[in-house]
Amino acid sequence: MKPKVFIAKPIPQEVEEFIAKHCDYKIWREVEPIPEDILLKEIADVEGLMTPKGIITEDLLSHAPHLKVVSNIAVGYDGFDIEAMKKRNVIGTHTPYVLDEAVADLVFGLILSTSRRIVEFDRYVKDGEWNFNLDSQEYFGKDVHHAKLGIIGLGRIGEKIVRRAKLGFEMDVLYYNRSRKRDLEEKYDVQYRNMNDLLKESDFVVLMLPLTEATYHTMGKEQFASMKRDAIFINCSRGQVVDEAALIEALENNEIRAAGLDVFEIEPVQKDNPLLKMKNVVTLPHIGSCTENTRFDMAMKAAENLVAAVTGQVPPNVVKELQ
Ligand code: GLV
Ligand code: GLV
Repeated sequence: MKPKVFIAKPIPQEVEEFIAKHCDYKIWREVEPIPEDILLKEIADVEGLMTPKGIITEDLLSHAPHLKVVSNIAVGYDGFDIEAMKKRNVIGTHTPYVLDEAVADLVFGLILSTSRRIVEFDRYVKDGEWNFNLDSQEYFGKDVHHAKLGIIGLGRIGEKIVRRAKLGFEMDVLYYNRSRKRDLEEKYDVQYRNMNDLLKESDFVVLMLPLTEATYHTMGKEQFASMKRDAIFINCSRGQVVDEAALIEALENNEIRAAGLDVFEIEPVQKDNPLLKMKNVVTLPHIGSCTENTRFDMAMKAAENLVAAVTGQVPPNVVKELQ
């Protein structure tokens, strides 16, 4: 008998076929997220759950007494209740590596669209307002090439950002990380700074930390106040790593120049969020990994992790807290 699993979102056919070879599965095929009550019913007798959200609570686990593995179709696993999973011997996997390049591309999308004011000008042009004086200082953007880029959190994605920054844009790159990455310092000529010096020196500050208890609200009032008035803040990691009220205040008081955000403290972002009214803020709906190839690769990787775990092998990408 094949092990039973549940897949909580639609996935590419090829990935589904791979799972079908090894598992007896059911799948949620709707585009809308699966309602909680249906999910809790579907997991009652399964050994594996593949899910896009990875919100794994004690309550959810109590509805799935046979569960061995949660395969998260994402790299971030801040939704896992690690202690509850440990207690019940449920392992958790995620999808590192396959989305690094796509997220790094998007970071540069936000760097360029904020500094060169691409979204703002696009609106003027489409609204028929191409009649302003572009020799006027107020419309000038900010150079990306040869500027100083500060990365907070130099992990896998951070390294891809460094390559683009150094090789493509000839930027100076600073980084702050809990542990020094001397190999990368040497390989790419990037320089370590403590957090405060990085904030003070950088023209672009890119936040790339996972969300944990330790990183919650890493960027707050004090940190934004340390940034250059002309600096741009980019976040493609998790909204809650930033005290969003402090970010809003810094932008309102012109303490920083602009912000490019793919993530928010509350998602979907609330309609009355002041960030949505600011011309110098570019907002995206958490699309870091959202390309055809990357989403396919993430689904396949999640499937491989799922199948390995329910067929008695060690999955390649068990999250480190549950290894
Ligand atoms: C996306 O945010 C992910 O964690 O994969
Ligand atoms: C995220 O996966 C990172 O390591 O930056």
